[in-house]
Amino acid sequence: PVSDAVRVIEVGPRDGLQNEKTPIDTTIKLQLIERLLQVGLREIEATAFVSPKWVPQMSDHHALMTRLVALQASQSAAAQARFSALTPNLQGAQVAIDAGAQELVIFTAASEAFAQKNINCSIEESIRRFEPIVARLAEHNQAQPPHKAVRLRASISCAFGCPYAGAIAPSQVVRVVEQLIPLGITEFDIADTIGVATPNAVKAVFAAAQQLVPATQLAGHFHDTYGQALVNIYAALESDIRIFHSSIAGLGGCPYARGATGNVATEEVVYLLHGLGMPIVDQTGNRILEGGIALSELAATGAWISGIIGRPNQSRAGRALMAH
Ligand code: HMG
Ligand code: MG
Repeated sequence: PVSDAVRVIEVGPRDGLQNEKTPIDTTIKLQLIERLLQVGLREIEATAFVSPKWVPQMSDHHALMTRLVALQASQSAAAQARFSALTPNLQGAQVAIDAGAQELVIFTAASEAFAQKNINCSIEESIRRFEPIVARLAEHNQAQPPHKAVRLRASISCAFGCPYAGAIAPSQVVRVVEQLIPLGITEFDIADTIGVATPNAVKAVFAAAQQLVPATQLAGHFHDTYGQALVNIYAALESDIRIFHSSIAGLGGCPYARGATGNVATEEVVYLLHGLGMPIVDQTGNRILEGGIALSELAATGAWISGIIGRPNQSRAGRALMAH
């Protein structure tokens, strides 16, 4: 039987903020992450070790990660957390490991066109770039006690549709999963980058992926551009998926991509899971975000960061809770 427990990975500090054109101070990012920890979130995608020319907002990756690691030495909520970061190549992975990141996220796409635009190489080339990361990580982990091992997961963008190539077939996603398996990946993030998926498509992709890997190794990363993220999560739950990515206040959205929005809001996901009676757990299986207090604290955090960056709060649950 499939467990009811769901892991919620907060990606707001990375996916939610990466498109902001005005530089956000590292201290603000740190405050946001501290607040998310206080509410109870434990898996936080903190930053991206990518080129500062490509994504200037993430250029403080090293400073932010080292400050988070320092926080872990002095604060118990932080000590229980797992901070992850995107790493497209060995250069980024090495700096991320040195900074103390606890999980690396390699990322590619199910669409050739998107891979070219996002990481400046083909899907195949991207996977070749992951090989030395895997080797470097194995070497690093060998010298660590098991509880200090740095984890690795993989994100597959445009799993349902691509802004440049249009519709994407489940077979294209499966082909990428197939190429990642030999690298020893055990967590695959199936990402709806532009939020075009609808529930039957979600079920089709997860069913196809489950021909290759168990449901426990698959995660849903949904953007809410077309207002489908929550129904897609529900469809994924029905497909036995129990890991989801979300962003506080629904942060994100590129000001230059018309209609683009952020990830599904964490407030909405938590509200849904509470309503369904499904426990939310951290990476060790401990229950987190229980009860109405967690939800109202999440809403307050979402309202706070929206105010700081000067954007309307994109979480409907967050706005409703703040109105009470
Ligand atoms: P490139 O220009 O082809 O790289 O970019 P290169 O290897 O030719 O190097 C060129 C320059 O970049 C050199 O510097 C390198 O040092 C530097 P220069 O000599 O010119 O001064 N460089 C780096 N600097 C810092 N960190 C690094 C790094 N690597 C090279 N790791 C590259 C290739 C992959 C680096 C670039 O395309 C890039 O950074 N892309 C990142 C794009 C990105 O972050 N996109 C957003 C995140 S993905 C996402 O949001 C999707 C997701 O949410 C899921 C979903 O919703 O779909 C995950
Ligand atoms: Mg994303």
